[in-house]
Amino acid sequence: MSEWALVYRDFDPGQEGLREALCTLGNGYFATRGAAPEAAADDYHYPGTYVAGLFNRLETEMAGRVIENEDMVNVPNWLPLRFRMDGGDWVDLRAVEVLDYEQRLELRAGVLVRSFVFVEEGRRTRVAQRRFVGMDDPHVAGLETTFLAENWSGALEVRSELDGTVTNSGVSRYRQLANQHLTLQDAGAIDDESVYLVVETNQSLVRVAEACRTRVWAEDGPGSVERRLVEEGARVGHHLALEMSEGEAVTVEKVVALYTSRDKAISDAALAARNRVVGLAGFEDLLQGHVLAWDQLWRRFCLEVEAAEEDVMILNLHVFHLLQTVSKHTIDLDVGVPARGLHGEAYRGHIFWDELFIFPFLNLHFPDITRSLLQYRFRRLPAAREAARRQGLPGALYPWQSGSDGREESQTVHLNPHSGNWPPDHSYLQHHINIAVAYNVWQYYEGTGDVEFLACCGTEMLVEIARLWAGLASYRRDLDRYEIRGVMGPDEYHDAYPDAEEPGLNNNAYTNVMVVWALQRAAEALELTPEFRRQELWEKLGLAHEELEHWSEISTKMLIPFHDGVISQFEGYADLKEFDWLGYTERYGDIMRLDRILEAEGDTPNRYKLSKQADVLMLFYLLSATELEELLTRLGYEWDPELIPRTIDYYRRRTSHGSTLSRIVHSWVLARSDREKSWEFFRQALLSDVTDIQGGTTPEGIHLGAMAGTVDLVQRGYTGLETRRDTLILDPALPDEFGKLRFDIHYRRRWVTVEVGDRRLSVTNRPGPGDPIKVGIGDDVIEVPSGVTKVVEL
Ligand code: BGC
Repeated sequence: MSEWALVYRDFDPGQEGLREALCTLGNGYFATRGAAPEAAADDYHYPGTYVAGLFNRLETEMAGRVIENEDMVNVPNWLPLRFRMDGGDWVDLRAVEVLDYEQRLELRAGVLVRSFVFVEEGRRTRVAQRRFVGMDDPHVAGLETTFLAENWSGALEVRSELDGTVTNSGVSRYRQLANQHLTLQDAGAIDDESVYLVVETNQSLVRVAEACRTRVWAEDGPGSVERRLVEEGARVGHHLALEMSEGEAVTVEKVVALYTSRDKAISDAALAARNRVVGLAGFEDLLQGHVLAWDQLWRRFCLEVEAAEEDVMILNLHVFHLLQTVSKHTIDLDVGVPARGLHGEAYRGHIFWDELFIFPFLNLHFPDITRSLLQYRFRRLPAAREAARRQGLPGALYPWQSGSDGREESQTVHLNPHSGNWPPDHSYLQHHINIAVAYNVWQYYEGTGDVEFLACCGTEMLVEIARLWAGLASYRRDLDRYEIRGVMGPDEYHDAYPDAEEPGLNNNAYTNVMVVWALQRAAEALELTPEFRRQELWEKLGLAHEELEHWSEISTKMLIPFHDGVISQFEGYADLKEFDWLGYTERYGDIMRLDRILEAEGDTPNRYKLSKQADVLMLFYLLSATELEELLTRLGYEWDPELIPRTIDYYRRRTSHGSTLSRIVHSWVLARSDREKSWEFFRQALLSDVTDIQGGTTPEGIHLGAMAGTVDLVQRGYTGLETRRDTLILDPALPDEFGKLRFDIHYRRRWVTVEVGDRRLSVTNRPGPGDPIKVGIGDDVIEVPSGVTKVVEL
């Protein structure tokens, strides 16, 4: 183990799915699971390659109706490299003796290394493999395999192919749904060493072209090989017959080019891939550029923390997977961040509110990336406006699950694997996604000061979202308050009142408080937008002063429900029954997915005081105590500083953490008041994916919100870092398990180094042109000019 490598030292077929997800290599343009190149999809293996933003829709008849799903498409597998002894079976590690197995994901370099010895009929062969997916050039990947016959001489056959017969079948729950997304367009040889394959998605009509070149090297130069072109439908490649001599290594080098018809600066995807592959440098040269690109990325993103080696490694792994899902190559691709990365097919590559847990970290290292991800939402503003209009609402209603064109992609029915039933899915009622979009726009602005972005896109989104909420808020005369009815909060276990005919809950506290916040930000963004542009927006959007006054009125009269001295998750929560936590834990052991357990029992979580994940507590995650106090006081509720700890304690006892996002929030909100418990949640969040804490979900894709959430906990949570009111606020409280912490952030066009440890905080505004930054520490706000370090004893 080191801080920079995820290492497995045995071959364990049952673990392959998990390792494939965790050893995925990608570059923000495409990613390939860490599947064994000699393996095809079966019960243990699932090779998958996904291109950011590449979706396709298919219809299936299910439970008596036709449902349509949009999936992130599994594109042709470029990995296949099978091998066998002269005339024998293709080697399957499950069928031969395997010695010395090691699989090592090298995080600094972005390389997956695999080595082992297999023994067949007494012949020992050592195999060493390296692969990368180009962080330097996003259209390139490489796989190098070295064979060493340890105690024999003779023929070894190798088959290097591109496989377009793949389907989307990585998630067993979806297997009853249509999954054939690709049709073969063209395949064949380019030259003696190279082949190509072109497929097209059958609904969205995106062409995907892959080309690969396979070369053979002996220890002293090009190796002698007999080659044959193999073409079997959508599989194309070369069959190589190698002559092995005992003790001498032979290397097979496969380099790949991948393009799609969505790419820019190409004529045609097939042409681009074919031309590219023949001119490609060798594996080693390509690798050098790739390693340099990673090295530069790490300089921007690394959190240097003194902590247990395993914890540091996992934090690095989380940054690594984040950057493989979104990187500088994502800019201009018109994509959002899929909740499960480009690492598997769970949730079909859809984009949820999870961006809320991801953008804050990106904002402070590479805001150009976040800007581009926000543009994904901006381009889908017309679709969101249309969705609002269809429901008779003003403004824009972003979908809970988003894919290609911003249509609502949430399921209407969802399989419960415990019962085999397909109950209705009301999660589309999570309109709080519209808070997340607004929050992300605002956070980006606070971190960058990018008024231009507000002027071009941000303000318009904030205004349309404010309008939506103002439209959803209705006035309740008896209370002289506004309320929001018929929605769902982040806790997906409650979608209706017990025995209600219609889904939806009233006055979800998280939603209502954040709506007040969002209405204020929309008004503030208009103020910040330069006068000239503001005028244009005012005209284009048909804004009126009365409308802003109405927002202001709502933001002083929103209803927030309380019971037993805590904020209620929603109105009526107090009337629900207490849940038998002990009894269910004894009966079922793992009770994270109480929705499935209760549905299978003919019951429903709607009857109980229980939550899948942080809901009310999201308020303390997104807002500082000061902000919350301001908001509640503005609404005329009495502020009691004990409200926060009481509310945290209340819900912490009633949450099953069925979402990996939940532990992030719990760790964050307890970071100062209960350091021990907070650390426990942090450790569990760290282990979410590496140990597949939910028992089977990580093989279907990593949990990117939890991954980014853990690093953001270190970066912002433990340092008390906020970007608010043009000030970089710091208030560190490192966990006892950490020594020093050091990182660089990009704040308001300046690079700033933050160091915490040994009871000191130091902030350096690194040399360069630009204005001083405002830094808030305790009650003081100081100006730190360029080239100056400010040190504070804690
Ligand atoms: C969580 C949601 C989350 C989604 C995608 C669900 O299990 O409850 O909050 O957005 O997963 O990660």
